[in-house]
Amino acid sequence: MKIIKYLLIAIVAGLVGASLQAGEFKAGKGTFLLNCEPFVVKAAELHYPRIPKEYWEQRIQLCKALGMNTICLYTFWNAHEPRQDQFDFTGQNDIRAFIKLCEKNGMKVILRPGPYVCAEWEMGGLPWWLLKKKEIRLREQDPFFMERVDKFQKAVAEQVADLTIADDGPIIMVQVENEYGSYGTDKPYVAAIRDMLRQNLGNDVTLFQCDWSSNYLNNGLDDLIWTMNFGTGANIDQQFASLKERRPDSPLMCSEFWSGWFDKWGATHETRPANEMIAGIDEMLSKGISFSLYMTHGGTNWGHWAGANSPGFAPDVTSYDYDAPISESGQPTPKYWDLRKTLAKYMDGEKQSPLPALIKPMAVKEFEFDEVAPLFSNLPAPKTDTDIRTMEEYDQGFGSILYRTTLPELTSQALLTVSDAHDFAQVFIDGKYIGKLDRRDGERELVIPPCRRGALLDILVEAMGRINFGRAIKDFKGITDKVTVTVEKGGHKWVDDLKHWQVFNLEDSYDFYTGIGEFLPLGAFTTGDDGRLPRGVYRGTFNIKGKPSDTFLNFETWGKGLVYVNGHPLGRIWEIGPQQTLYMPGCWLKTGENEILVFDIIGPREARSEGLKEPKLDQLLVKNRQAHRKEGETLDLTADKPVAAGAFKPGNGWQEVKFEQPASGRFVIVEPLDAHDGKELAAIAEMYILDDKGDRLSREPWKVTYADSEDVDANRTADKTFDLQESTYWQTASGVPFPHSMVIDLGATHHISGLQYLPRMEADVPGAIKNFRIYVRN
Ligand code: GLA
Repeated sequence: MKIIKYLLIAIVAGLVGASLQAGEFKAGKGTFLLNCEPFVVKAAELHYPRIPKEYWEQRIQLCKALGMNTICLYTFWNAHEPRQDQFDFTGQNDIRAFIKLCEKNGMKVILRPGPYVCAEWEMGGLPWWLLKKKEIRLREQDPFFMERVDKFQKAVAEQVADLTIADDGPIIMVQVENEYGSYGTDKPYVAAIRDMLRQNLGNDVTLFQCDWSSNYLNNGLDDLIWTMNFGTGANIDQQFASLKERRPDSPLMCSEFWSGWFDKWGATHETRPANEMIAGIDEMLSKGISFSLYMTHGGTNWGHWAGANSPGFAPDVTSYDYDAPISESGQPTPKYWDLRKTLAKYMDGEKQSPLPALIKPMAVKEFEFDEVAPLFSNLPAPKTDTDIRTMEEYDQGFGSILYRTTLPELTSQALLTVSDAHDFAQVFIDGKYIGKLDRRDGERELVIPPCRRGALLDILVEAMGRINFGRAIKDFKGITDKVTVTVEKGGHKWVDDLKHWQVFNLEDSYDFYTGIGEFLPLGAFTTGDDGRLPRGVYRGTFNIKGKPSDTFLNFETWGKGLVYVNGHPLGRIWEIGPQQTLYMPGCWLKTGENEILVFDIIGPREARSEGLKEPKLDQLLVKNRQAHRKEGETLDLTADKPVAAGAFKPGNGWQEVKFEQPASGRFVIVEPLDAHDGKELAAIAEMYILDDKGDRLSREPWKVTYADSEDVDANRTADKTFDLQESTYWQTASGVPFPHSMVIDLGATHHISGLQYLPRMEADVPGAIKNFRIYVRN
């Protein structure tokens, strides 16, 4: 009996000891509490799949040396479950090892397990195979979607559930969904995700939501912590004003403070001033506000993982440098040193740790490629199909797809309509290149020449990243509907819906490219009339003497495609820029011979490369394609009667204009007449048009047809007024006086009753419009 009694006492003591040992993180009055002590989160956002595993610890240590105390990370569902039920938590996907490294280096962890993460990542982190169910409702309580989310969340929990603070691990907080307010209003769905997390990670785990100050209430659940996302320069007091009113005792946290911004193909490289970032962090810390700096180190969208933005289609580049304090290749930038100095003031008596050893990039001598397997003579066995289908319907996730059929006899020119090619299509007749259809420009039609009956039509479609933001994430690849040929004869239009296709799946994988077929010596090929070598898979080697280090492979002479080195997918290249080099981590190189493989769907001008010591991320080789005013074009409004005229209030935040009488029309013209600061700039961060019931019209079909002035070099184009991003904006170029004007095509005629306007987020509100006039036209 006595023995049992002592045993019991020992067990209870053990249990008490264990529970005393375990930690706790929660919201206290006006502050977070870590083991009952006030704690300000200074988090660095890092994404493990974007950093070579070999460098994980070095990057974590760079964040620690900045003065950060936490690492904030998403989980990337599509990296972990590339095919349904095939889970992968190894190598680059070993999230447990990454979190353990954070712990080892004394960093707390904030986990953001999605399921949707945005993050400029393919489909916002959702796996493409969900789209095999065509009718699926993503990020809603669709039974299949929820079943799959639950499986994924359970798989994540198996990796990390014992790493929460309740188990004495480093994970202090877990995020529920991601900025749901910019997707919809659906509290039951958000609550279902919350419940899954509780079930899988335990009831003790501290859960939070992140959203914007303008929409967090739409989905804010009463029992969760609410945090705000905003970019550098934003008016911080204003960002938290509404939350403070609702929940005066809540700890304040900016869950994504954007250090820089991401780049899109064909648009100017983005940067954000260091001083604004530093000032924002300084202000937040001086007020005891927690933050996560998104990104502290952005890294790279290896392989096909870069996403794309919408409205419209704006695919992201391979580099996710983000103009962050730690560059893509792990170098501390001037922003880093400034930030470190500022964070030194907030170390609570502790010393900042020293920086880890830095990696010194090396140059690699120019080298030529040796051989090529031309695409058209090495096509895989086709599938046959009566109707045309999307890539997903052929069970293909990534890469390119070639659709082939025969044409009827065309005695004169005809119009080929591809609705829609996602994302970059090239059209060939009997092997001859006819033209391209670029989804970024909404191109769907090509004039094709007369041809014989039975001429071979090839449409080669390359998928870029699936859209990662807004409702457009349901982004099918390949040809999404149909292909028609329209012939005009005797005043009539004859439309032929093309059928009976051969479909060649060109899956993006190292195995596919190396096994594509016959590689021939490059010496056997010369450039064609277009100055290019054939489309196809190029193979070469380069030598490294001594210990390899990081380098930046130069692709300035190449067309468009994907690159692999020693089997590692390095990412996409595209001659238009702004990115011209790919980051090549030294840890994936060998002393001696290294294999390089490029699949170029346009064809290189010269098949060579070299390793540079510095990246080239800001060389746009096309004219910035976004200006919305043709040379010499003006807008005459003298004959138009405004539907509204007045003055906006000064300051930050949304404002609404109600028209006296609803108006009907397809085009809305906004005419800013002057600015509150008396200067010549006008800016609009976001804008909505209200229908006759006062509801916001969908902005999906909108297009800007005119803007008198745009700061094109800084990507401040007029389409930023409806890009769903409050921190990007339309701004007129300096030197262009008022009045300004901008025309939006709503895509169809609507009854319009008003307009909502959001000025820039900075406290001094640059470009805040004072007097305005609004017109509606048909
Ligand atoms: C939002 C998302 C992030 C990222 C940033 C922009 O805040 O939550 O995942 O997409 O925008 O970089």
